[in-house]
Amino acid sequence: MRAKLTGTGMYVPERVVTNHDLAALMETTDEWIQQRTGIKERRYVTPGQTPVDLAAAACEQALEKANLKATDLDFILLATLSSEHEFPGTSFFLQDRLGAGSVPCIDLRAQCSGFLYALNFADGLIQSQKCKRILVVGCELHSTGIDLTTRGRDVAVIFGDGAGAVILEANSEEDDPSGLLGIELHAEGENARRLWIEAPASGHQPVRIDQKMIEEGRHFPQMDGRYVFKNAVKRMPEVMLSTLEQAGIKLEDVGLFLFHQANLRINEFVAQKMEIPDDRVLNNIQRYGNCSAASIPMLLAEADEAGRLQTGQLVSMTAFGSGFTWGSALIRC
Ligand code: UT7
Repeated sequence: MRAKLTGTGMYVPERVVTNHDLAALMETTDEWIQQRTGIKERRYVTPGQTPVDLAAAACEQALEKANLKATDLDFILLATLSSEHEFPGTSFFLQDRLGAGSVPCIDLRAQCSGFLYALNFADGLIQSQKCKRILVVGCELHSTGIDLTTRGRDVAVIFGDGAGAVILEANSEEDDPSGLLGIELHAEGENARRLWIEAPASGHQPVRIDQKMIEEGRHFPQMDGRYVFKNAVKRMPEVMLSTLEQAGIKLEDVGLFLFHQANLRINEFVAQKMEIPDDRVLNNIQRYGNCSAASIPMLLAEADEAGRLQTGQLVSMTAFGSGFTWGSALIRC
């Protein structure tokens, strides 16, 4: 039994925020952002839009492509680090919005590797024959949670809002080799504080957040950027190669490489190191910035739209992010 990709979808808000727009809010320049990250613009929600609005639009597209109704699903797995509410998270509000009846759902928190972690659980549920049809969503609304002043500029300029979704269905056809061929995941909690949001936090007493913490900006993401960068360029090739090797697939046979969109420089470095030709790598960070758990499913949807997920195509997906978490998955379309 294999988990076959049968639908993709994505949504980004209409509001385009350019590097010049950010330079009006903080000490930064279009040149600095483009040189260090490759980002030209990103999307921010308009007032009133919430994570569920983003996720629902992506999911509806994926369901339509797979020719399914929300009630046909056996599970909804949603990866995010920017929940609709602290609890119960996002997936329950999404499940209601989609009209999914009593289909079970859950939020997964593995940050930028979240979509791959969710894919792993979906694959397990399908292989064990507990589920036949699963919706896997990555959704992030960063723009309301970043420090849009000079103090937070290192992180603020990279993040954007967006959502991506896929449908995975059980495939037991002997003459159809489509499906997830391999997946490998890792985590390294000793680096959890190198990229994190400290508060609000249940461990802070007597309250989860106070005025002083807000003044100090401890409710905004903090990142040791250089350290994260160094680890990303080491771990991504490592896990990608290991996943291909386990699946018995050669790098040159992979038609499409999708990397988490954290920084174009990271992806260029990885592609160069692995000698992957440019036309086999798809990036969209230039237009959307870093949408964390949504980055890879957004790329899948764009690849699908561009006709690059033809039957038989091998697609390798690799991510690195907060936790630290990293992983890679290989799918045959
Ligand atoms: O998605 C999860 C995983 N995340 C990542 O993989 C991100 C990995 N890290 C990065 O992408 C990069 O570290 C950043 C793009 C975040 C930062 O680039 P960097 O080349 O590592 O810059 P830096 O933090 O070492 O800062 C270099 C200089 C500093 O100034 P001084 O100390 O040299 O005077 C910063 O204050 O650049 C300054 N700086 C900025 N200047 C203009 C930092 N952010 C900005 C900014 N605009 N936005």
